[in-house]
Amino acid sequence: MGAPFATHLLFLFCLFTATFSLNFFKVESNVSCHAKEKQALLTLKQGLIDLSVLSPLSSWSDQQDCCTWDGVRCDNKTGRVIELTLNGIAGEISPSLLELKFLNHLDFSINDFNCSRIPSFLGSMGNLRHLDLSNAAFCGLIPQQLGNLSGLHYLDLGGNSYLYLDNLHWMSGLSSIQYLNLNSVNLHKEVDWLQIMSKLSSLSELYLSSCGLDSLNPSLRFVNFTSLRVLDLSQNHFYHEIPNWFSNLSTSLLKLYLSENSLMGNIPPSIFNLQRLEYLEVQLNSLSGKFPESLGQLKHLSYLNLEGNSLSGPIPLSLGNLSEMQNLKLARNKLNGTIPKTLGLLSNLVSLSISFNLFTGSLDEVHFAKLWKLKILDMSHTLLFFNVNSNWVPPFQLEQADMSSCKIGPKFPPWLQTQRSLQFLVMPMSGISGNAPSWFWNWSSNINTTDLSENQIKGDVPDILLNSIVLNLRSNHFKGRLPRLSTNVKVLNIANNSFSGPISTFLCKKLNRKNDLEVLDASNNLFSGELSNCWSLSGPIPNCLKNIIAMVVPEPNTQDAYFDSLEYNFGYGSYIANLMLVPKGNELEYEENLKFVRIIDLSSNNLSGLIPVEISFLSELHFLNLSRNHLMGSIPEKIGYMKELESIDLSRNHISGEIPSSLSNLTFLNYLDLSYNNLSGRIPSSTQLQSFDALNFIGNPQLCGEPLSKHCTVNEEAHNRTSMGKTEDNSQNSSFSMGMGVGFAVGFWTVCGGLFFNKTWRHAYFKFLNDINDWLYVTTILKVNWILEKLRSSHLN
Ligand SMILES: *[C@@H]1O[C@H](CO)[C@@H](O)[C@H](O)[C@H]1NC(C)=O
Ligand SMILES: *[C@@H]1O[C@H](CO)[C@@H](O)[C@H](O)[C@H]1NC(C)=O
Ligand SMILES: *[C@@H]1O[C@H](CO)[C@@H](O)[C@H](O)[C@H]1NC(C)=O
Ligand SMILES: *[C@@H]1O[C@H](CO)[C@@H](O)[C@H](O)[C@H]1NC(C)=O
Ligand SMILES: *[C@@H]1O[C@H](CO)[C@@H](O)[C@H](O)[C@H]1NC(C)=O
Ligand SMILES: *[C@@H]1O[C@H](CO)[C@@H](O)[C@H](O)[C@H]1NC(C)=O
Ligand SMILES: *[C@@H]1O[C@H](CO)[C@@H](O)[C@H](O)[C@H]1NC(C)=O
Ligand SMILES: *[C@@H]1O[C@H](CO)[C@@H](O)[C@H](O)[C@H]1NC(C)=O
Ligand SMILES: *[C@@H]1O[C@H](CO)[C@@H](O)[C@H](O)[C@H]1NC(C)=O
Ligand SMILES: *[C@@H]1O[C@H](CO)[C@@H](O)[C@H](O)[C@H]1NC(C)=O
Ligand SMILES: *[C@@H]1O[C@H](CO)[C@@H](O)[C@H](O)[C@H]1NC(C)=O
Ligand SMILES: *[C@@H]1O[C@H](CO)[C@@H](O)[C@H](O)[C@H]1NC(C)=O
Repeated sequence: MGAPFATHLLFLFCLFTATFSLNFFKVESNVSCHAKEKQALLTLKQGLIDLSVLSPLSSWSDQQDCCTWDGVRCDNKTGRVIELTLNGIAGEISPSLLELKFLNHLDFSINDFNCSRIPSFLGSMGNLRHLDLSNAAFCGLIPQQLGNLSGLHYLDLGGNSYLYLDNLHWMSGLSSIQYLNLNSVNLHKEVDWLQIMSKLSSLSELYLSSCGLDSLNPSLRFVNFTSLRVLDLSQNHFYHEIPNWFSNLSTSLLKLYLSENSLMGNIPPSIFNLQRLEYLEVQLNSLSGKFPESLGQLKHLSYLNLEGNSLSGPIPLSLGNLSEMQNLKLARNKLNGTIPKTLGLLSNLVSLSISFNLFTGSLDEVHFAKLWKLKILDMSHTLLFFNVNSNWVPPFQLEQADMSSCKIGPKFPPWLQTQRSLQFLVMPMSGISGNAPSWFWNWSSNINTTDLSENQIKGDVPDILLNSIVLNLRSNHFKGRLPRLSTNVKVLNIANNSFSGPISTFLCKKLNRKNDLEVLDASNNLFSGELSNCWSLSGPIPNCLKNIIAMVVPEPNTQDAYFDSLEYNFGYGSYIANLMLVPKGNELEYEENLKFVRIIDLSSNNLSGLIPVEISFLSELHFLNLSRNHLMGSIPEKIGYMKELESIDLSRNHISGEIPSSLSNLTFLNYLDLSYNNLSGRIPSSTQLQSFDALNFIGNPQLCGEPLSKHCTVNEEAHNRTSMGKTEDNSQNSSFSMGMGVGFAVGFWTVCGGLFFNKTWRHAYFKFLNDINDWLYVTTILKVNWILEKLRSSHLN
């Protein structure tokens, strides 16, 4: 069977969990175990092997009473085995188990049965009340014989992805069942599942997540689930409305999970009739229509998640009736209107997420009046205006606040100073101008993510000691020299400001002390100068570069796996959206290729010197933007080796010589801007290069040939030959000089850094962004710490 690979992975994961959660019981009692049962258990043991470090089977010794073995429990009067729990084993289950005539509790969860069938003889164990075979890598058809277990209260077959059922009728034999878990068992073939299960009159918890179900039978008039308290139907595909029969669960249901089901239509009254409901998950469906006023009927609701639907209209006033509400998640809908002031009545609210909606109007003190317990506030990407008095003291102590794209300014919000527990503060594009108050830079010692980007905040910060793990000041009006960094800072984005002076002191000083800086985006500032005294940066090529070359080839699989979980945990979609802002000049779909995207953007500084020829080793680079600097020399001849390049912008520099003919080999290239340089000669012929606009070549008086209207003359052809020779020489002789200008230096650092945009770095980075994932500017990335270590060691050698 090819199926079990994934099953094995799951098994290993579960085993890890199990190792820490199992507690095998030992019974102290005077009764001794029944000889026949002991023999049966020893026979069972023969077919099994221990996988877990706890090795439960190791205590199963012939010399000892079987009632003292790990995982075995005997009745304390009769000495008969009544419970058997074995986790972390593999092998085959022997029918000798049938000798345990009094067994009522059998737990074979979290094992590796290697895609074997569930043994049908389990159906003959008439005393079983509790049967747990979850996450045990069983495959195939579930045996109908289990339907003989009329005394069974608890049946868990969940987490065995290759189990299936073609017919559920036998299940009506489970007349005492209270807990039934078939998560990820394929029930696709059983269309009558609902009618059959709803006859299980004692059923209290039903889990059918990821079962391949495709209908909730919306035409059904009623269901008989009279005792159902928990119903999990998430991750199926229903493509229809929420049925009316839900109202029949009104006297019992406490928790309802309907997420990721492609449910459509309005939220029906049947949901609001569930008066005892405490927990409701309907996120990631296609629900539309208005949010009904009857919301307020759900008086016991403490968790509501409707994120990622298309609900419209305002939040009803009756919101204020949800006095038990702790966690309210309404993000990513089309809700509009103002936020009702009754929000301020939710005195148990801990987490509020209303981001990515069309809300308008303001939020003031009243909206927060009783939100004493609020810790997480996400109101980003709405049109809300945060309109509070300058002396407002909020009732809450926030831990996370995302107010991206809200109207917070123009003043820097003074109430923030009262928030001593804040760990995560994200307020980009919030209209703040003027100086950041001096208290801001050190008011909270807990803060680890700060994003004030895209505001108009002014000021000099050189004397400030920045101390947030992630700090994004991109696109503000900060000026002067670089600020000091505490050793805690890992990600610093200061792009698009007016910082000036040499970048060298900043980088070089770090040599003498520990620091954790991993990411530095300093593009679009006024940095200049040379990295003169750092290294005396002539000498051999540092090891760093060699290592990088090795890393240019993507590691197979590891990154894919990482990105899968990234997508799952962090809302990949918005990450892509922001990433697409980076390459100026075009927008491309990255869904398929993002894992290999490499971006270098050093545009708009005062960088000088040559484009390092080593750049052509970066065979995975997709975007290169060095435009608007003072770069000289020629375009590296081997640029054609960078096969993945999709976009090159070298415009507005002093680059001379010919356009290397290898450029025509770049099959993915769909953006090229070489305008306003000193390039000369004929534009190499290839369908691609000729398809670009002439505007992308203009401002090079000595350049000729299509798409330019200027034809090439003999002179220019000659020029071609001479400059060609020169170019070759340049690239042959240019050794890696440590004392080069800052243009080269920064380019080099960036090259090194860009490559370290690998999974380790991303992992650390995304840890900070956890819930809120709206900004990510991957432009210039310098893994300074690592490189400095490398360079220092190579220098010392
Ligand atoms: C075991 O037997 C001893 C002596 O007969 C008695 O004192 C003790 O209470 C018994 N223990 C249990 C758990 O029955
Ligand atoms: C025997 O088991 C029953 C039920 O589990 C328990 O109530 C009783 O205390 C136990 N007796 C002894 C002597 O352990
Ligand atoms: C799992 O089953 C396959 C096919 O039945 C067999 O080849 C393989 O040896 C088994 N693996 C173990 C660990 O028993
Ligand atoms: C168990 O069920 C099967 C079919 O579901 C039936 O044929 C068999 O007789 C039953 N066995 C017992 C012991 O009840
Ligand atoms: C629902 O339950 C009632 C009473 O338990 C019973 O009379 C009725 O037949 C059941 N309906 C269905 C469809 O099972
Ligand atoms: C079940 O729901 C249907 C549809 O909403 C309703 O007509 C019927 O009265 C309900 N029956 C019970 C017993 O709640
Ligand atoms: C909300 O509570 C108010 C006052 O307690 C009550 O008048 C109103 O009907 C309730 N609204 C809903 C939808 O339950
Ligand atoms: C909210 O959106 C609806 C359409 O979905 C529109 O008719 C209504 O005017 C909007 N209300 C406000 C206050 O913008
Ligand atoms: C913040 O920095 C200022 C000036 O550097 C200092 O006077 C003040 O004590 C610092 N506050 C805290 C909380 O560290
Ligand atoms: C952020 O800070 C809080 C409080 O200091 C801490 O508990 C949390 O682990 C930190 N998060 C990260 C990602 O370091
Ligand atoms: C570019 O293509 C030409 C042929 O079209 C080939 O000779 C040359 O080796 C290629 N260069 C690179 C760098 O792939
Ligand atoms: C440069 O001149 C050589 C020799 O005439 C010719 O083969 C080549 O195509 C020319 N290159 C360009 C870009 O015109």
